[in-house]
Amino acid sequence: MYHKELTAIKKSNRYRERKISDESLIDLASNDYLGLASNKVLFQKAYERVLANGHFGPKASILVNGYSTIHKTFEEALCQANGFEEGVIVGSGFLANLSMIEALVRKKDTLFIDEEYHASGMVATKLLQKNQVILFKHNDANDLKAKIEASNTLQGRVVIAIEGVYSMHGDIASREIFDIADDYNAILIVDEAHSSGVIGENLLGIFDYYNIQPKQNHIKMGTLGKAYGSYGAYILSSKAIIDFLINRAKAIIYTTAPSLFDTAMGLESLYYILEHKKELKAKIEKNLEIIENILNIKSKSLIIPIIINDNKKVLEIQSKLKESGLVVGAIRQPTVKEAIIRLIAKIDINQKDLIQTCNLLKEYR
Ligand SMILES: Cc1ncc(COP(=O)(O)O)c(C=O)c1O
Repeated sequence: MYHKELTAIKKSNRYRERKISDESLIDLASNDYLGLASNKVLFQKAYERVLANGHFGPKASILVNGYSTIHKTFEEALCQANGFEEGVIVGSGFLANLSMIEALVRKKDTLFIDEEYHASGMVATKLLQKNQVILFKHNDANDLKAKIEASNTLQGRVVIAIEGVYSMHGDIASREIFDIADDYNAILIVDEAHSSGVIGENLLGIFDYYNIQPKQNHIKMGTLGKAYGSYGAYILSSKAIIDFLINRAKAIIYTTAPSLFDTAMGLESLYYILEHKKELKAKIEKNLEIIENILNIKSKSLIIPIIINDNKKVLEIQSKLKESGLVVGAIRQPTVKEAIIRLIAKIDINQKDLIQTCNLLKEYR
């Protein structure tokens, strides 16, 4: 079964396998940007918070009897920190994108989505009518504007979907897209999976980075599986939009509430990031300086793409680095157009190890 398809995948060097993470290797591949996934103090605090809650499993959907004080406290803390009116927690970023896009783009509405938007958003587009979905060139405000102008299907709402920091190449969303959303009275969905905890004056993400005060048309989706060192997601917006999602988004209604421990860990991480933002930012800046000095790549995020454009070669480079005790991502098609080594300049790793990795990559690329 599926033998033919698997053979084709293997032939094009696109075959994927799960491998147990080797704790003895230095991790420059995962999205745990701040190293909070192995912070024992936060783990202990989250554990105590759940223990004090009375029940430990979420038990039911948030609309039946699964909504707990931990969930509510986290939503309120996120709203307060990010300046949004209302928030709702969701099981994962994948579910958040899928259900949010499907729910928000109603019959007569049109979705304009960045061509490099995450797969979870792209899956959602398959649930809409074909003429409701328009892809615009990656991070290209002019193309977005031209496509909105040229669209003759615009009877209902305009919904725009972008990422704060793009997950594969680490580039940040264009400021002009926020202005376009305002000009066309569009709903703007911003996936902040890779930006919250990494960019901005308060490390809160792209709104913070551009100092944009959230408006009624803004939606921020953030995930806990990256800088927050946990698992899960949240959506922040105006009260009207969150109310609507709670009533229409299937992955909020028809699913068990998010894990209490993971939510508590997200909450502790948020408090930690806010409290330690100065030191964290200094470390981020230092790592970006190392990257620029050795690899000559100027990045604002901690995702550093090294373009190789050869599926086989990225695997070879990845394997050579492993021999030196270092793990980096080898990202191939169809995830990216050209194969890349995806180096994550995590701030919890030793600077000497980051320098060694950069020097090796300089040699191998
Ligand atoms: C940009 C982006 N959005 C959404 C997701 C999905 O989030 P989650 O892992 O919480 O399902 C990911 C990656 O996992 C991502 O990179």
